[in-house]
Amino acid sequence: MNLSTFQQTCRDRVNSTLSQTISALPEHAETLKQAMEYALLIGGKRMRPFLVYATGKMLSIQQKDLDGPAAAIEAIHAYSLIHDDLPAMDDDDLRRGHPTCHIQFDEATAILAGDALQTLAFEILCDYPLSSELAMKRIQLVKIASQAAGYNGMCGGQAMDLAATDQHISQQQLEDLHNKKTGALLSACVEMAMTLAPDITPQSRLHLMNFAKTIGLAFQVQDDILDVVGDSAVLGKPQGSDQAQNKSTYPAMLGLEPAQAYLDDLHKQALQALRALPYNTQMLVSFTDFVIHRTY
Ligand code: IPE
Ligand code: IPE
Ligand code: MG
Ligand code: MG
Ligand code: MG
Repeated sequence: MNLSTFQQTCRDRVNSTLSQTISALPEHAETLKQAMEYALLIGGKRMRPFLVYATGKMLSIQQKDLDGPAAAIEAIHAYSLIHDDLPAMDDDDLRRGHPTCHIQFDEATAILAGDALQTLAFEILCDYPLSSELAMKRIQLVKIASQAAGYNGMCGGQAMDLAATDQHISQQQLEDLHNKKTGALLSACVEMAMTLAPDITPQSRLHLMNFAKTIGLAFQVQDDILDVVGDSAVLGKPQGSDQAQNKSTYPAMLGLEPAQAYLDDLHKQALQALRALPYNTQMLVSFTDFVIHRTY
């Protein structure tokens, strides 16, 4: 199966889980429900679900056992984007080619939509149908997602991002910030799939986590580069937002070309980690190439 066919399968599966989950919510807060649906289903590349399914496929895990983790991570990601765009954070007005959630609705609704999408993610992990022999793993999935989303992951990284705005920080600090704000959720995709695999060796686990960490960092480095060289119409979000706000990014710290060279290094490192695995890594190699070369 090639990358785009598999990508389409992943997108269809996660969109179906997410839209069914939203549809099943009662109507007592209709605007909030609409805002959740808007932020979740209006677009997005669905890279995190893809990473869950691609890792799971490599480890021979059934797709239905991956539907919960894929949907949960995407819900956490959608929440992180709503809050990231708020006036108190990046103050952006375009996301996934549409007005950001607080522009389309209002700030209070956007804050609550983010909150409710985050908790929805954990409801999904608690409730989704999981093969009975994997039932004991559910609590581990919840733990991985909560650690990746919280203080030691995305939220902590976002706080470091805000604190680093208008500041000079070291490259080590920038790497730590990126690993947390973006890398943690991407790593969680790999880790959740790995948790459902019965017989993975400690050594393969190490190589796979090394891959996940590298691709997580690379994802944000390319996001930083696209903020400089991308096109708003293609990105579906405002180009130049980081520069306008004087954010700490790789191009701002190193310059554009050295940032691109660093991304090439990360690309090579990610592929090297995959080569060390005793599995068919074709889909993860394609994922890696896509992350590095994407234009949106
Ligand atoms: C954007 O993520 C925010 C980052 C963590 C870099 P994506 O580039 O995956 O955004 P969508 O989901 O496709 O909109
Ligand atoms: C956001 O990083 C990371 C998140 C946790 C949402 P950015 O602020 O660079 O993401 P974009 O560029 O707005 O998508
Ligand atoms: Mg931000
Ligand atoms: Mg932003
Ligand atoms: Mg960005």
